[in-house]
Amino acid sequence: MAITPPEVLWYVIPREGAYPWEPQGRRPVDLGYLQHLAGAVERLGFSGALLATGLYDVWPLGSALAASTSTRFKPLLAVHPGLISPTLLAKMALSFDTLFGGRLRFNVVNGSTKSLQEFGLHVAHDERYELSAEYWSIVKRLTAGEIFDHKGRFYDLKGAGASFQDLKPVQAPHIPLWFGGSSAPGIEMAAEHVDVYLTWGEPPLLLQEKLKRVRERAAAHGRALRIGLRLHLIVRDTEDEAWAVADRLLDVTSEATYARQLASKEGEDGVGWQRQYRRHGGKIPIRARELEDYPNLWPGMSLFRPGPGTAVVGSTSQVVERLKEYRELGVDTFILSGDPLLEEAYRVAETVLPALSVSRP
Ligand SMILES: Cc1cc2nc3c(=O)[nH]c(=O)nc-3n(C[C@H](O)[C@H](O)[C@H](O)COP(=O)(O)O)c2cc1C
Repeated sequence: MAITPPEVLWYVIPREGAYPWEPQGRRPVDLGYLQHLAGAVERLGFSGALLATGLYDVWPLGSALAASTSTRFKPLLAVHPGLISPTLLAKMALSFDTLFGGRLRFNVVNGSTKSLQEFGLHVAHDERYELSAEYWSIVKRLTAGEIFDHKGRFYDLKGAGASFQDLKPVQAPHIPLWFGGSSAPGIEMAAEHVDVYLTWGEPPLLLQEKLKRVRERAAAHGRALRIGLRLHLIVRDTEDEAWAVADRLLDVTSEATYARQLASKEGEDGVGWQRQYRRHGGKIPIRARELEDYPNLWPGMSLFRPGPGTAVVGSTSQVVERLKEYRELGVDTFILSGDPLLEEAYRVAETVLPALSVSRP
């Protein structure tokens, strides 16, 4: 039986280098560099890149990268619901798709209660998913070209979509919604509204249970979701070399960074993060491999780096084997990264992607 190749995206953020969480591990990055990286990403066979919330807002960055790449490069822009009016967001999205040939994808991020307070959003974790459900159902209808009135719990809109009705949708039925969240209300919101369910890496059994719940809840709404997995890769010719890289990451990380990363997560209400934290309990090991909780899976990245804290560490064949194991759980999409993003995009494209039957354009 022919195996369909997965969709594989890379990752683009301005924090770039061999260990960019430390000043000495970070290289200077400007717009030219980021455009060069995006160009490499599309030439190497990735279908686009995740642009996480971070140093730059995703809209100027996403627009600049879309302008310098072809329609093969599909940016996945992380958006916190509730910070921009849903009508304005839909207008931005339809403008983007009109200008750049219909390649926008939203990454719906629930964020954390603490971090959103800076932006004036004071809505608690579970309630934020109620906001999210209302918000994204509006955005979906607007990016499908509808004009309508809406009165809900959070939004009261009159003639939404009328002022930009000449911006015709380029993607049908609407601009796709991708989403990562592991809490029960997050899964419920995803089941009803999103197109692609994303998760950080977890040992296969844990992931299998979670995906079962996601699928069951989606089926209850008469829907089926695609499944995407966000993983960091430390891939080398041999297993020993790969683990030596992980060891070095522990060595070059400063005490201040460990303390800051763990303190920043105090009071963190994201269930996805808590699932990551449980796998190491904040313990900094002497050797990276002490934290290996399934062959080649290393939750240690979350000790010093925000976001996805699981790396697959190993030789090319081991990494490919792990990715294939996830494929068997129903994962059809990978969002991968490695540090530095530029060099590792080449390495992964030249070693891992061919084994997954992902070919270059
Ligand atoms: C693949 C993936 C990417 C994410 N990207 C971001 C991001 O760019 N910005 C952000 O604030 N949160 C990001 N998150 C975190 C989620 O928004 C969410 O806060 C987190 O998963 C906690 O939600 P939960 O409590 O439902 O698990 C991401 C999560 C996943 C799985």
